[in-house]
Amino acid sequence: GIPSLKAVFGDQFLFGAAFENFELLQEADRKLLAKHFNSVTPGNVLKWDTLQRQEGVFDFTGADAAVQFAVDNGQQVRGHTLVWHNQTPDWVFRDASGNLVSKDVLFQRMENHIKTVVGRYKDHIYAWDVANEVIDAGQPDGLRRSLWYQIAGEEYIEKAFIYAHEADPDAVLFINDYNTHEPAKSQALYNLIQRLQAKGIPIHGVGHQTHMNIDYPSMSEIENSIVKFAALGLKTEITELDIDVYSNSSQRYDTLPDNIAQKQTTRYKQLFDIFKKHSALIDNVTVWGKDDGNTWLRKFPVSRNNWPLLFNERLQSKPAYWAIVNAAQPQ
Ligand code: G3I
Repeated sequence: GIPSLKAVFGDQFLFGAAFENFELLQEADRKLLAKHFNSVTPGNVLKWDTLQRQEGVFDFTGADAAVQFAVDNGQQVRGHTLVWHNQTPDWVFRDASGNLVSKDVLFQRMENHIKTVVGRYKDHIYAWDVANEVIDAGQPDGLRRSLWYQIAGEEYIEKAFIYAHEADPDAVLFINDYNTHEPAKSQALYNLIQRLQAKGIPIHGVGHQTHMNIDYPSMSEIENSIVKFAALGLKTEITELDIDVYSNSSQRYDTLPDNIAQKQTTRYKQLFDIFKKHSALIDNVTVWGKDDGNTWLRKFPVSRNNWPLLFNERLQSKPAYWAIVNAAQPQ
């Protein structure tokens, strides 16, 4: 058989994949996940709207199944995610009349959710994306005007990390975001982290989602952002890697053009050369889906073909897989 990603990159970093529970129904999918990846990230089942859709009614069915798969296969688990503006039920922010709740009520709900969830998976989830996508570089303080922010300001981020740390002092706690290389966004994130560190908030790592496309961003921008955040003394993980074959939402290919496939392969190779160069800084590289048949990019931003990952929809290794494997192994 072909070499496994987790073996090839074993001396550099964990190699992870996001997955959905329906991918556990077919043996071929389970085998691919188990063979190549020593870390997994449940793609949706650890989000608030799945775990606690109604106040006080927790449903761990999906999350337990996802975590059990990882345990059965000796895989590490990244917990995604505790506090986000998306996939969070509206009740979290409102009282019975529909008005926004006070900061105290919001924090009680947050504490209950975070401590219940993080506590439950203490033994099996090594890292949590505590705060996801909180940056908006267009705001004076760099923070997204989510309902979390509208009710509690920046303090909601502090509290989320504190509660998670209390629930599991061993968990590695991340702030996770996309386009972390982009200058204004990167600076806003950097400033926020410095404010949190100055207050002694238990934040341990930066998750670079790394949703890329065929043209954007440049490799040097990615490299710079890895180095920049590691210099804050934080751990670095690449948490949601994929390379969209389009660079805008109006393109559509019936079949993947050869030149685009080659360009994608080259970008994967260049990217993993950077990861190798900085492997002392990087603990985990996770792709956002194990194969091209299971990618959010076939639904977002529009429904269309896409081939952003390392295995095709028949679970066969793509040229991008061989490019990174061949570059990593001594020939
Ligand atoms: O669970 C329902 C199902 O019951 C229903 O029949 C079906 C009909 O559309 O929808 C299902 O929910 C979908 C869910 O994925 C599970 O497949 C939601 O509509 C859909 O919106 C949701 O999309 C997820 C997206 O986050 C939503 O924000 C993607 O799977 C997930 O890959 C994506 O992941 C995010 C990260 O969490 C954060 N960073 C960006 C990344 C990509 O958008």
